Amino acid sequence: MTTALPGSPFLAYRGQDLYLEDVSLRELALTHGTPLYVYSRQAMLAALAPYQRALKGRAHLVCYAVKANSNIAVLQTFAQAGCGFDIVSSGELARVLAAGGDPAKVVFSGVGKTRQEMAEALQAGVKCFNVESTAELEVLSDVAAGLKLTARISLRVNPDVDAGTHPYISTGLKGNKFGIAHELAVQTYQRAASLPGIDVVGIDCHIGSQITDTGPYLDALDRVLDLVEAIEAAGVKIHHLDLGGGLGITYTDEKPPAADELIGLLLTRIDARGHGHREVMFEPGRSLVGNAGVLLTEVMFLKPGEQKNFCVVDAAMNDLMRPALYEAYMGIVNLRQRTDTPAVVWDVVGPVCESGDWLGRDRALNVQPGDVLAVLSAGAYGMTMASNYNTRGRAAEVMVDGAQTWVIRERESVRELFSQERLLPAK
Ligand code: LLP
Repeated sequence: MTTALPGSPFLAYRGQDLYLEDVSLRELALTHGTPLYVYSRQAMLAALAPYQRALKGRAHLVCYAVKANSNIAVLQTFAQAGCGFDIVSSGELARVLAAGGDPAKVVFSGVGKTRQEMAEALQAGVKCFNVESTAELEVLSDVAAGLKLTARISLRVNPDVDAGTHPYISTGLKGNKFGIAHELAVQTYQRAASLPGIDVVGIDCHIGSQITDTGPYLDALDRVLDLVEAIEAAGVKIHHLDLGGGLGITYTDEKPPAADELIGLLLTRIDARGHGHREVMFEPGRSLVGNAGVLLTEVMFLKPGEQKNFCVVDAAMNDLMRPALYEAYMGIVNLRQRTDTPAVVWDVVGPVCESGDWLGRDRALNVQPGDVLAVLSAGAYGMTMASNYNTRGRAAEVMVDGAQTWVIRERESVRELFSQERLLPAK
């Protein structure tokens, strides 16, 4: 019998054992060790399909947000599927190029691009810079003119819309560091159009992440279209609309709209307001990879206590930071469905020396030491936010496709962790 878990149709129990596509996760853990990130290639492509379906027949570009999961095999998967990329550093640009991505489909976002990063992106020929301040605009023009190149730009406007998500991942409000205030947008576009190294091509907004409602998107779109009309009335032409990323996924019981449903609503509004001729772009990250990945971790010790029971596992906040940083809920299941052990309520914690080092709190689990657990929906903002805190090497990563598996990142060795450090000279 097959029992599916929330979030991904590619992750299901076959008999007692959890499979991702046609691969037993228990076998992967035995072969490659834990902590181990495992991703489903089919799940990524299945998550992309509704974006592409909804946008078919009109000028569009889906730019996968590299920060969600930047493994080059993941980028390769999306490049081969026709995606562009949303990057925030020249490091991410280098990854895209190494993965065979097309620089002409890259948009460069972020509030703090360095001159060096601007130059590298200009020389690579990126499609567009999403510029976030007047100061950045002036520097970008200067860098481009110095290279005898022109920077195609969008301004990232701040629509002052509440995405209704965690404050750390909400970006479209006035108090956020992101974007150009709605009131200043027209004059900033006029300034942009007057600069020698700048070619205005679009408008951009991104209001936050893990958004589970269509309302904030439609509100932001209306604000953006108001601006486009005002900017064009002021004599500056806008070609594309980049509506950012942010669509949420199911971690537990969230019910985000499907991508094609959301895009359908947005396109209807765009057409109704007479903007249907424009190229439409999105920058999804989490919704393409989040539910395509799990983090496998072995139970080391069970530590029942008076107030709390602790299930100590070998993955920690350095491997997966979302619970510690945002108190994010991520599902946790045993790879083997046990009937021989009663369910007990555990806090699932890692070995790092911080009370904030937990992966899940108050979880009813049937576990024994030596069992391997899967932290669900860990494909986005898992490995990319991992660190080496407590001198812990980062996990290995495996990609699954049908019954095939590939190691797409080797486990980091401790030697590598301090190989760039130097002792002081001997006394
Ligand atoms: N575009 C821009 C300009 C962004 O800042 C982001 C994410 C995206 C696109 C992709 O958003 P997505 O579709 O993945 O929601 N570490 C946090 C999420 C931070 C999101 C930052 N920006 C987390 O683990 O929840």
